[in-house]
Amino acid sequence: MSTASLDCDDFFEATALPENFQGKKQSIETFVERHKGSKQPVVLVTSGGTTVPLESRTVRFIDNFSSGTRGSASAEYFLDQGYAVIFLHRHRSLLPFHRHVQSNILDHLTVSTAGSDPLITVQSDKTEKLVPILQRYLDAQSKGRLLLVSFTSLGDYLHLLRETSRALQPLKSRAMLYLAAAVSDFHIPANMMPEHKIQSANGPLQLSLQLVPKMLRPLVKDWTPDAFVISFKLETDKDILVWKARKALEQYQHKVVVANVLDTRKMEVTLVTSETQEPIRLPEKDATEGKEIEELIIQKLSELHSQFRKASEKS
Ligand code: PMT
Repeated sequence: MSTASLDCDDFFEATALPENFQGKKQSIETFVERHKGSKQPVVLVTSGGTTVPLESRTVRFIDNFSSGTRGSASAEYFLDQGYAVIFLHRHRSLLPFHRHVQSNILDHLTVSTAGSDPLITVQSDKTEKLVPILQRYLDAQSKGRLLLVSFTSLGDYLHLLRETSRALQPLKSRAMLYLAAAVSDFHIPANMMPEHKIQSANGPLQLSLQLVPKMLRPLVKDWTPDAFVISFKLETDKDILVWKARKALEQYQHKVVVANVLDTRKMEVTLVTSETQEPIRLPEKDATEGKEIEELIIQKLSELHSQFRKASEKS
């Protein structure tokens, strides 16, 4: 076993399991089992940011910018493409379908109490947008094609990522992993973390963060070696983006990197494979009409996955 995967094992041993881990594991296994008999592809979509606690009885933590837009939108388009979706998301980040409903929805409802049961009505100017969203949502729900699993901290995320990847392995090339969550590269290991709230009376705070082992290596090598794995590469400097994506493909031997720059991520990404590099751009006009770049990304990735499945089934 490589040193890197030993680091990963050490990380898991030292990091507490998420709350209700057994319940979440069970629901993931049941979901995969239910879809095992069909020909339908199954995708794990990860979404949102991971927190890095500073104290074991956590009051403070480090967080990042991710709101889960990429992941939640992608999950909807995967459902449209016929996938069953496990949506591993940061608690309280955006959810597929729910993301379209404004937080002030109560301002757009009226109640009539004329009959025996009170009837809630949505204002007519909102129904045009809501009806197709609700229909897609109810369809996914009634067919059992969407499973929501939440995490908060980096440790929760990585434990659930490992468990879900392992659960998907029996599906072989039918499984896709789409790792869009914004995962911290730094953390404070449990044995270096104070138990109680850090006191300001002790003066200015100096933090020393350790590197988190890269989980893509054991994921591709050991947890789910036959799946179609897509990672993301986020940079703020566009000049190093594709180079870093290529380096990741060489290091981890997975199939695709979706490379994006923080400021332009909603309009442009580059799909990088070991042989190709394809920019995907959302035309300005489409963006103003409410179209999303994730629709284009998922169309392309579904095609690549389907080619991969055909090639894997032949060999
Ligand atoms: O949620 P939004 O606001 O819509 O933003 C979307 C996004 C910008 C977060 C998304 O498009 C994106 O780029 N997600 C990946 C961000 C990220 O973690 O990039 P990275 O360069 O730090 O990591 C590269 C890859 O390594 C990631 O796929 C990650 O899953 C993986 N990783 C990271 C840390 C770690 N310890 N082990 C890993 O395997």
